[in-house]
Amino acid sequence: MIVHKTRIAVFCSGSGSNFQAIFHALKKKQLNAEIVLCLSNRSQCGAMEFARSNGIAAVHLMEKQFDSFDEFAAAMVGCLRKHGIEIILLAGYMRKVPDAVVTAFPERIINIHPALLPKFGGEGMYGIHVHTAVLEAGETESGATVHLVNEEYDKGRILMQRHVPVLADDTPESLAARVLECEHKLYPEALEKLIAEQQS
Ligand code: GRF
Repeated sequence: MIVHKTRIAVFCSGSGSNFQAIFHALKKKQLNAEIVLCLSNRSQCGAMEFARSNGIAAVHLMEKQFDSFDEFAAAMVGCLRKHGIEIILLAGYMRKVPDAVVTAFPERIINIHPALLPKFGGEGMYGIHVHTAVLEAGETESGATVHLVNEEYDKGRILMQRHVPVLADDTPESLAARVLECEHKLYPEALEKLIAEQQS
């Protein structure tokens, strides 16, 4: 019997450590899913290098390459269709996903955010800014959230969350490192949950 593997795209802009964690987890857990495309607004970044050296299509797409935003969004949808993508994972993608893509893949795009949403989310809340805000607010714990993506920043349904402690001597960097380690375990589990939800 030929079993169909769920075809996944990752959208990245940076080092792609979550992409790599998911790639390895998919192999280890022998999930019926595979990453077949890495899409990025940066042609040279850790994620794109990882894709290229692992036989995964690496596609560089940015607004500037097109005459209008609509053409850019249509090209993105076209690329995803061409690769037969069923699920999109945002893993450090530093651009807003065009609404046309969200509409074309309802309930099929997830993101990981380095805090416990709904707190510390929204426009401008990314990277080290998130951890600085958590420390400034005097929180005793932080964590990571995997959520579905809709047209609003960080507002889609929460799929999974995991907590980590905030330590008295934490800097934004030390907290970021602890949260990232937690993300690497949480994201593959959340993906597994999404696939199970969609197959049930
Ligand atoms: C992670 O902290 C993630 O929560 C955020 O962007 C970062 C991506 O890191 N959305 P990496 O590229 O996966 O290493």
